[in-house]
Amino acid sequence: MAVRYQITGGSSAAISASVETGIRTGALAADSALPAVRALAAELAVSPATVAKAYQELRRRGLVVTAGRHGTRVRPRPPVATRRAALRPAPAPGARDLSQGQPDPRLLPPLGPHLAALAAEIGPPVGYASSAVLPELAEAARVRLTADGVPADEITVAGGALDGIERLLAAHLRPGDAVAVEDPGWANLLDLVAAAGLRPIGVPVDSDGPTVAGVRDALALGARALVVTSRAQNPTGAAVGADRAAALRDLLAGRPDLLLIEDDHAAELAHVPLHPLAGATPAWAFVRSVSKPFGPDLRLAVLTGDEATVSRVAGRARVGAGWVSTVLQRLVLSLWRDPATAELVRRAGQEYERRRSALLAALTARGLTAHGRTGINVWLPVPDETVAVTALRDAGWSVAPGALFRIGAEPAVRITVSTLDDAEVDPLADAVAAALRPTGPDGFTA
Ligand SMILES: Cc1ncc(COP(=O)(O)O)c(C=O)c1O
Repeated sequence: MAVRYQITGGSSAAISASVETGIRTGALAADSALPAVRALAAELAVSPATVAKAYQELRRRGLVVTAGRHGTRVRPRPPVATRRAALRPAPAPGARDLSQGQPDPRLLPPLGPHLAALAAEIGPPVGYASSAVLPELAEAARVRLTADGVPADEITVAGGALDGIERLLAAHLRPGDAVAVEDPGWANLLDLVAAAGLRPIGVPVDSDGPTVAGVRDALALGARALVVTSRAQNPTGAAVGADRAAALRDLLAGRPDLLLIEDDHAAELAHVPLHPLAGATPAWAFVRSVSKPFGPDLRLAVLTGDEATVSRVAGRARVGAGWVSTVLQRLVLSLWRDPATAELVRRAGQEYERRRSALLAALTARGLTAHGRTGINVWLPVPDETVAVTALRDAGWSVAPGALFRIGAEPAVRITVSTLDDAEVDPLADAVAAALRPTGPDGFTA
């Protein structure tokens, strides 16, 4: 039998530190329940108010979540440096891992030739004085964004989409403020919102993006920011359609109190047109990462928005991290300018399209409904995530439990198709169908 982690401490600070240690060392796994306030207070001979304060502090920092009668639990991915692998069910030895949400490394453009060309032309080292957003990069980004209908007068650069979103939220919101996020939505964003002490309000998503009713409800509940994924929504594959964009723009028009953030992480990989919301509110930002088309290790995203918002983000960065290395900016520019790279990215987008459509068709042929209009993931509603994830793992397939991505949305699993080979499609769909087959009352399949 598993030994329960012993929380210790005689003050709220010591109790919360003890819980944090348990999480950091892995003794308190993701989703494990913490003792009820009164029970722990009695055990530690402190007042319930002391334990309640410790739990409140842990909640504020996004380490735990309290959900009514389910009590207080460790968040699926708390913002302390646990080993990420420990937070997901371990893939069975030899299982095919489709749980990671990564682009296929074989479809990323090679960086070597661009680094070599850069090495030949880099010139003298850049110091503090001449560091900034490279004007050539800003101009190239402006051209690309404007071509997609995004006004891009103001441009800055962040260390990836999530870094940009974090800086935007910090520039406009305070701990305790509410943020409307897609539900289901990107797990990293949900963790970031929790870590920043913000309150997530889940907005339902259909294949056209966040629903109008969901956004209206979130506004009524006091959301101070709204984060929308333009295309290849993670995990459902939704893409904001033309009609949805028009309806959302109408709804958001004249909301001076709302920060609107768009995350176009699919960028050049997307096979559907962009329908931006940019500019619908006075405070807005549009973030486009290079991670998915060009490689997650590049850690760069361009960020545009209204003048005040971009100036806050750029100004705050200047007194902190400073800037995104101009070496990295030059590398991205070199990738953007290279027609051969553009062709590789175009083909990668086509390939993801093909892999995703093949799995969706195979699931449909087996009478199963799954979602995935764009991107590299398929979202498959299931009656019970643990049963589905375990059955698939036993059959040799590792997929991500929907709990990583959900607030109140229905149970599901996420299957990343980015690396799926043609020959794997039917065996995977068969395994999914078997995993979801209803079992008889004695637990055995009829
Ligand atoms: C919705 C979403 N946005 C952005 C990203 C990329 O983020 P970053 O630029 O921080 O690598 C991802 C990657 O999975 C994502 O799923």
